[in-house]
Amino acid sequence: MSDDTAELEARLAAQDSFEPPSSFVEQANASDPAIYDEFEAEWPECWRAAADLLDWESPYDTVLDDSNPPFYEWFTGGSLNASANCLDRHLDERGSSVAIEWIGELGETRTYTYEALHREVNEFAAGLRSLGVEEDDVVTMYMPMVPELPIAMLACARIGAPHSVVFAGFSAEALTTRMESAGSEYLITCDGYYRRGDPLEHKGKSDDGVAGVDHDVTSVVVDRLEDAYDHPMADDEHDYDELVADHAGETVAPVSRDAEDMLFLMYTSGTTGQPKGVKHTTGGYLAWTSWTSQNVLDITPEDTYWCSADIGWITGHSYIVYGPLALGTTSVMYEGTPDYPEKDRLWEIVEEYSVTQLYTAPTAIRAFMKWGEEYPAGHDLSSLRLLGTVGEPINPRAWKWYYTHIGNEACPIIDTWWQTETGGMMVTTLPGVGTMKPGSAGPPLPGVDVEIVDVSGEPVEAGQAGYLTVQKPWPGMLRTLYQNDERFIEEYWAEYSDVDSDDPDDWVYFPEDGAKLDEDGYITVLGRVDDVINVSGHRLGTMEIESAIVGVEGVAEAAVVGGNHDVKGQAVYAYAITEEGAEEGKELESAIISGVEDAIGPIARPEAVVFTPELPKTRSGKIMRRLLEDIANDDELGNTSTLRNPEVVEAIDQKVNAD
Ligand code: WT7
Repeated sequence: MSDDTAELEARLAAQDSFEPPSSFVEQANASDPAIYDEFEAEWPECWRAAADLLDWESPYDTVLDDSNPPFYEWFTGGSLNASANCLDRHLDERGSSVAIEWIGELGETRTYTYEALHREVNEFAAGLRSLGVEEDDVVTMYMPMVPELPIAMLACARIGAPHSVVFAGFSAEALTTRMESAGSEYLITCDGYYRRGDPLEHKGKSDDGVAGVDHDVTSVVVDRLEDAYDHPMADDEHDYDELVADHAGETVAPVSRDAEDMLFLMYTSGTTGQPKGVKHTTGGYLAWTSWTSQNVLDITPEDTYWCSADIGWITGHSYIVYGPLALGTTSVMYEGTPDYPEKDRLWEIVEEYSVTQLYTAPTAIRAFMKWGEEYPAGHDLSSLRLLGTVGEPINPRAWKWYYTHIGNEACPIIDTWWQTETGGMMVTTLPGVGTMKPGSAGPPLPGVDVEIVDVSGEPVEAGQAGYLTVQKPWPGMLRTLYQNDERFIEEYWAEYSDVDSDDPDDWVYFPEDGAKLDEDGYITVLGRVDDVINVSGHRLGTMEIESAIVGVEGVAEAAVVGGNHDVKGQAVYAYAITEEGAEEGKELESAIISGVEDAIGPIARPEAVVFTPELPKTRSGKIMRRLLEDIANDDELGNTSTLRNPEVVEAIDQKVNAD
């Protein structure tokens, strides 16, 4: 480290608050601090500001219908089409501007202007109709970061068919479960994709997934690998390019959707093994993602904005596709990994495309730090004006590294807390307004009523930790869990609400995160308080992983916890008890690892598998995961006095942390 750098690091380490640069504030979409008071005073009418960012086919008559909590409805009576809002309405003014700048892993690029995107979305929408897709049919997509994914999403939105995107890294079994649960009869998939320069086959996994579905499925297959991978096509499979070519030049009028009609489903992990189908609607969701894209990401049509998430997760839905395109900007989409061909790939892209905003995740930032500051230093990153992060808490050291080595101390950083269920951002500073405090996400957005409460639901004092709650509804909120209103109430509301009441004031949304209320009202998110592990910003349910492990021959019982990991944030640690006669060892360990990969996907792969004769249990038979976490982290062991078998904790600890 040079003297200069050392001095800078020392200065930054001591600094715990940062003001947005005046050059940013002067041009920011939101720069007036009065917005907080205004939105509070005008709630819920304040959210007209979000709805006003959209083109409505017929105007809404009520901003919020809260007559049947927690089944809130927003912008009722209004109708609109999401694809028309993301495409058609931009054609006159910026048809020839770039909508999607796609960069493939092999270095190839595809540039879609709004006109070109509009054309292909129309053709594919016509193609989907010709295959029989009708309004309200759920269409599943199982694709990596290829342009056909957002095209397919927008084509579905155009004809009023909700999409359900399944992350391409998930397993065949995960695809089956999601298609079954949604009763989805259509699948858009691809033959494969590239990873680190090599073709990676995807179709076999996709076929296995479809084979497990009880009903008939019609598929469209995108030919990403072309000659690198030949695959036969069955009668109920259609080639994407041929389908689009068959409908060349056709237009499909956007179907008028009620504000409350479903735009898409997104499955996410929860406490129980069964994934939850989060339902988002057309009006509220699109208004929410547009408003936050404008006021938090500071997006204007002239920007070249880049969110490095995968569209298979909510971040990509909200902030690669819907929000940015609704605002008519250029959204960058990168297919590959950040360290291929070299560890400066991202910085090369920022420089080449003059990226203005970069939205990424703490896990990526920790990897960049590890690789070294020389990688960004070799590129001109001066086009950047704003940096963002999402997915998990960011520690102040990583925050400051991002601020210095990527932002050159000239870009505000937004640390955005939200989740699949909230549709879009909820807690973050407004970059043109608020002081930034590394490690703390910030205050709730204007018009968002977040309170940190104790177990009995009472607000905690400043300086205290508790549970994060949302006390009032917001337009981007999930409306229910697909076809499971009961579980919706059980999972998100029962904890702090009077579930028998019709008074919306008695209903409180609980996202299952712990948080600390700082002296100045800022919120420092501490992480999940349910049995969900956050691996590289991705949510994995411990129960899902445990049931995969127990499904492996030779395993009698399993417990899974999240242990600290310096890049991933958390990693999966599995504890397994073998069946009578089964042998502990490498072979069973590999079987467990492949069992998890088959059931969920490689992201859930255990970092370590520990065989143990017993699991620590309470007298009522509940597994004490907290102690297993202590062991995974090599922490001081917590209290074992309530255990039925305290001696086992010591034994496992010895085995794992002996030295
Ligand atoms: C969970 C939601 C939001 C899109 C990506 C993940 C954690 C998210 C932050 C943040 C601290 C965060 C929470 C949340 N989380 N953002 N800025 N600071 N924690 O979506 O898969 O639905 O996961 O991610 O624990 O509940 P998701």
